[in-house]
Amino acid sequence: MSEIGIIGAGAMGAGIAQVAAQNGAEVIIVDQHRGALDRAEKGHRKILARLVEKGRLEPGQDQAILNRIQYTGSLDGLQKCTLVIEAIVEDLAVKKEVFTNLSEICPRDCILASNTSSLSIASLASAVKEPGRVLGIHFFNPAPLMPLVEIVPAVTTHPSTTVEARRRIDGWGKTTVLAKDTPGFIVNRVARPFYGEALRIFEEGLADVATIDWAMTELGGFRMGPFTLMDFIGHDVNYAVTESVFQAFYYDSRYRPSFTQKRMVEAGLLGRKTGRGFYDYSEGAEKPEPVKDRELGKQILERIVVMLINEAADALYLKVASAPDLDLAMTKGVNYPQGLLAWANEWGIPACVEALDRLQDEYREERYRCSPLLRKMAQEGNKFAL
Ligand code: NAI
Repeated sequence: MSEIGIIGAGAMGAGIAQVAAQNGAEVIIVDQHRGALDRAEKGHRKILARLVEKGRLEPGQDQAILNRIQYTGSLDGLQKCTLVIEAIVEDLAVKKEVFTNLSEICPRDCILASNTSSLSIASLASAVKEPGRVLGIHFFNPAPLMPLVEIVPAVTTHPSTTVEARRRIDGWGKTTVLAKDTPGFIVNRVARPFYGEALRIFEEGLADVATIDWAMTELGGFRMGPFTLMDFIGHDVNYAVTESVFQAFYYDSRYRPSFTQKRMVEAGLLGRKTGRGFYDYSEGAEKPEPVKDRELGKQILERIVVMLINEAADALYLKVASAPDLDLAMTKGVNYPQGLLAWANEWGIPACVEALDRLQDEYREERYRCSPLLRKMAQEGNKFAL
């Protein structure tokens, strides 16, 4: 029986522990706060009981799964683990200390993974004596429901660690993609323009938030419009990711955060969780009506999607991931209606390059520079191999 250690019993740690235990693993979940462990246990009990009610689990299976999870305040129980996934607070110094301790307690062949969204895996790996066994295993929230997991080897990760980690997570029924240890990995990098370009269009006054959301959902087939989604994620969280990607790319202007969103954060208008973001969630509040102008809608959709395509093409150009993994990541990690590279093939790569060049001509900003790969493919008449 494989033993899995999970460090951190917050939203992510509890979710990952549930996935592992539901797939037959013995799980030890460690948190320094007793309250977090209690909350995780209560949460598991409730969710698993609901799965029985819905017929997704047989009666009694919920208890069997719970019996496989041990909740503890100490790392000492991790001596027999074959895989440990860290999901504690996003702080490099704190995480490094935990990795140093883990490398002393866990067996030498135990894989040590981090669920970090924004820190470099290489920096975490440097905290252990055998960095070859450290890599990123990045789940999405909520972990039991989101199929995608990014597997992120660092420059020091041994290839066998990556193969074994991927085999394990695939075995839990997840869709894994391989991502380079670069800021935002795949999803949090490629998705930036979904928010950034929507905010820019709004700031320019080309359309209001309801109209932009309408264009993306009704004409584009996205499940949620950018403003609804930012309100859902929380502007504090979304802004922090944007800022961290911007800094990590040495302030490349195409990732520049938006003042509009910063002001929302400063004002405490964080979205659904505070009752107001771009939309008002208080009882009886009226939902603004979009301007259902298909011509305008198509312009909005084209501008945002072409920026996303450019980002995906540039990630491919810089070997962040393979073309099939880039498309899988966006469909399985953030529910895009189709992969961005497939979308580029459908629209025609020369048309995408033209649209980007038109934007760059108009604005004269680096933000709209076309990826060299996209331009080369347009010149050579190639399509993405998916
Ligand atoms: P959280 O704040 O809900 O939970 C973190 C837990 O770690 C807390 O219960 C805290 O008591 C515990 N903790 C902190 N320091 C500890 C230590 N030294 N030893 C043991 N336990 C400790 O955080 P959340 O949202 O679950 O995130 C955890 C990690 O997952 C972060 O690295 C985050 O970047 C990443 N992540 C978060 C996602 C999200 O949507 N929340 C999505 C994907 C990754």
